[in-house]
Formats: sequence, structure tokens, C-alpha cells
Amino acid sequence: MNKVRDKLIIFDTTLRDGEQSPGAGMSASDKLRIAKKLEFLGVDVIEAGFAAASPGDFEAVCAIAKSIRNSTVCSLARAKVEDVRKAGEAIAAAPRRRIHTFIATSTLHMEKKLQMTPEQVIARAVEAIRVAKEYTDDIEFSCEDASRSAPEFLYRIIEAAIREGATTINIPDTVGYALPSQFGHFIKDLREHVYNADQAVWSVHCHNDLGLALANSLSGVIHGGARQVECSINGLGERAGNCALEELVMAVKTRNDYFNLGVDINTQQLVPASKLVSSITGFPIQPNKAIVGANAFAHASGIHQDGVLKSKETYEIMTPESVGWKSNRMVLGKLSGRSAFRQRVRELAIPTKSETEIDEAFARFKDLADRKSEIFDEDIQSLFDTRNVVQQAIHFVSLKQSSETGQRPQAEVVYMDHGEERVGRADGNGPVDATFRAIESCAKSGAELLLFSINALTSGAESQGEVTVRLTLGGRVVNGNGSDPDILAASAKAYLDALNKLTNQAERTNPQFGQEPTP
Ligand code: KIV
Ligand code: ZN
Repeated sequence: MNKVRDKLIIFDTTLRDGEQSPGAGMSASDKLRIAKKLEFLGVDVIEAGFAAASPGDFEAVCAIAKSIRNSTVCSLARAKVEDVRKAGEAIAAAPRRRIHTFIATSTLHMEKKLQMTPEQVIARAVEAIRVAKEYTDDIEFSCEDASRSAPEFLYRIIEAAIREGATTINIPDTVGYALPSQFGHFIKDLREHVYNADQAVWSVHCHNDLGLALANSLSGVIHGGARQVECSINGLGERAGNCALEELVMAVKTRNDYFNLGVDINTQQLVPASKLVSSITGFPIQPNKAIVGANAFAHASGIHQDGVLKSKETYEIMTPESVGWKSNRMVLGKLSGRSAFRQRVRELAIPTKSETEIDEAFARFKDLADRKSEIFDEDIQSLFDTRNVVQQAIHFVSLKQSSETGQRPQAEVVYMDHGEERVGRADGNGPVDATFRAIESCAKSGAELLLFSINALTSGAESQGEVTVRLTLGGRVVNGNGSDPDILAASAKAYLDALNKLTNQAERTNPQFGQEPTP
């Protein structure tokens, strides 16, 4: 008789660990858009945030809990009663909800960071789980820095956590230190020594500091029997990031002859989800990135091209269509009407709240079609990415710019700042420099520019430029995005978007750095 196929639970942490990556801060509405995309993708558990980080984070988790119906909504909580209560309140509206509580278990973290004894750490974990049970039966417990923790201590704390009611035990490789040949066996050993191991689902959460996050996660699945993997879109996460969801899913699906595991992900949404996260965070995707990079399915060498033309399987182990790559199609043009536009928006599964929102986007579409003859799917998506721009306190109105070989470029930027029109003029080393100086001549933010990057949204010289600007001020780091067929206008929009975020973003606690010693 065939063995029933186990299911591999896909736990996405783009909105929590991903957001901890410097500059990846997202607004509540951005988080909701990503959460809806993750639900559409078929993610089993969405870690919506760390509710205790700030009032804004709490509200963002609440909003996600109210709107997500088909995935479990989870909030992270340090093993502290106040954090667990915040998490429990934030996820209350979700039909399926989880509290994920954690505490560090390595001697290094317990002594230096927590300044707690092992007994105190166990007591805090148990108390957190006891309080979490007041809010949900679905409780995950993580041993932070597990891969550098003593197995004997892990046996004790995990046994106590399961006894208290934890239903998932997560083994993080917090600093990306583990090796694939060892990590899975480390988990197997834990499961063999923890007497109540079979009462919980085992999970892995691997960081990519040595580029081993996917390999370690798969080792946890193959050798350790883990049946949940924590991952994120584009591998976004602290430092070098987490295991990339798209790589994990396609590895398990493509090699299902080996894994024999069920994965309920709608893989055709992988590329759209990747693009959405990239455009919201402003973190570009490297061209050679597996699955979602622009070159992932491109064949440059003659021999490969010849093989692919004769039979795709010669060099392709999966099809571009299966992960959501479509050829750039000219879907609409200047003469397209409202109903064709609405139809394409539906086909692209762009979440919209009302007909008014579609009408407003249609007006922007007409404006764009006047300046660009071919409108691709990416352009339509970008019309919605910019939907809130005009409602922002600081937003772009117009730009005048002149450059000539041998002359310093000049720029004049007109923008609105809380209802007041501002006109800034400046010159600069180049046209982008002049544009940013023109804005700063009025804004006087004092922010430092950390990054300027530009991508073509589609192919062809007519493509819209998609600009990311990263600014820092007073220890805060924010990203701003802007797109426009005129790359200088896109740059000005991105700079102004970042200025909005600098003024709006409140202080937040990083869950892992903010774990203060026991009182
Ligand atoms: O990397 C880590 O240890 C974490 C935990 C909070 C699960 O992100
Ligand atoms: Zn992590």
C-alpha cells in the first residue's frame, strides 16, 4: 500500500523577518497587499509581523488578521507576557491564528544577551505558552540560536514547551552557522531524545549567512523529519536573509520523486509575488537569482539554445510558465477602453477595493498611454503600486531639467508638502544629483542618500524606469520607490516617497535585539 503523502507546511515570514532587513520597512497597506498575495499563492501560515514592536505594527497585524481567510495568520512574540497578549489581541479576528513565541537557548545568548539562567529561560518559555493558550490552540515555540545551543538543554526546554501546549517546535539557524550535512541530523537527534516529540510539528528556520539557507532547510526536511519550513519571498530577511520561498517550493515540487511531499502552492504566482515584494521594498532581484531572476530561464550559449529549441527538457528542469513567467505582452494601448482595462486588472489578480480605485488607475493608465505606446502587464501593476502616491503628504507634481555636455545639469522640481506647493531649483554633478538637490533645497531633511538604483520595468527603450532611493536619518533607514517613463521624474518620485516614510515611520523594537534581561 502507498504511504500517505506528508504535507510540507509553508510558513512565510516576509512580513516579519523580511521586514527586519534594513530599509525593508513597509507601510500597513503595503503589508496587507503582500499578505493578500501570499494568501493567493497558497501559503499555509503568514507571519504577519511582531505585534509588540510598535502601535503601527500592531495595527498592521490586526488588519491582516481581519482580511485573510485561507491562511493561518501568525504574530511573533518574545517570551514575555505583554508581548504574547499583544500578539493574541492582534490576531483575534483571523479564523485561523497562531502565536509564535521564542527565546534564545544558546549559552552565549542566555548569558550575554538575556543574562538569565537556563532555568529562568525554561520558566519564561513555559509562561509564554501558558498565556498564549488563552488566545489560540495553535502555538509555535522557537529556540533562538538553536543550532549553537547544547542539545541536552534543547531536549529539556522543548519537552517543557510541548507539555505546556506548543504545537509546532521551530529550530532556527539564527546566524546561518549550520551545515547541510549536520543540521538535519541535529534535528533528528532532538526528535529522538524529546519524549513527546511526536505531539508537535517540527519546523526549520534557516538564515543565509553562508549561502546555505535552502540546503540547510532541505536537510532539516530530509534527515530531520521537519514538516514546516520558514521562508520568505526573494529570501528577504535579517542580514543575508532567510531561505527563499520560491526556491524551496520549486525544489520540493521539481524533485518530488525524491521528497514525496505535498506542497499546496500555486507556483504560477511565484514571479508575481516576487515582483510585488521587490517593488514594495525596493530590493531589486539579481538577474541570476534562481526561479525569479530575469535570467533564470534565459539561454545565452548557442549549444543550449539549440538544445532548447529541439527539446525544452534538454536544459530546462521546469518551465518558465510554471513559476509565472509570461512573455512581455502588449496588453493594452492608447485606444483601450475602461472595460478592457478592468478585465486585465482582474486577470492579473491585482487586489482592488472599489470601482473608484479602478477608475483612478484607469485615469493614470490613459496618462501613461499618452506617453508610452505599449502598455505591458508590469506597467498596469505599477499603476496600482503608485495608487496612494497622490494621497501622500509629500508628493511629486512636475520636473524641469536641462543637461548638456560640458555644462552642469539644472533641475527644477515642483512638489506638494502637506498641501503647500514647493518649488526647488539646483544644479548638480549629474541630472539625478541636480534633481535630489532641488528637492533638498526646499525640504532640508538632512537625510543621507545610501542607495540609488534604477531598473527597466519592461523591455525596450520606452520602458518605465523603476527607481529605488534609500535614505537614512537619525538611525532610521527607509526606501522610496517611483516609476515613470522619464527616469528623472521616477527618481524625484522615489526621493519624495522616501521623505514621506522618514517623517511617518515610528520607532520600533527589533524582536531579537530588544529582548531585555529578566527584571
Ligand atoms: O532567526 C531567528 O531565530 C528568528 C526567530 C525569532 C524565529 O527569526
Ligand atoms: Zn530569523
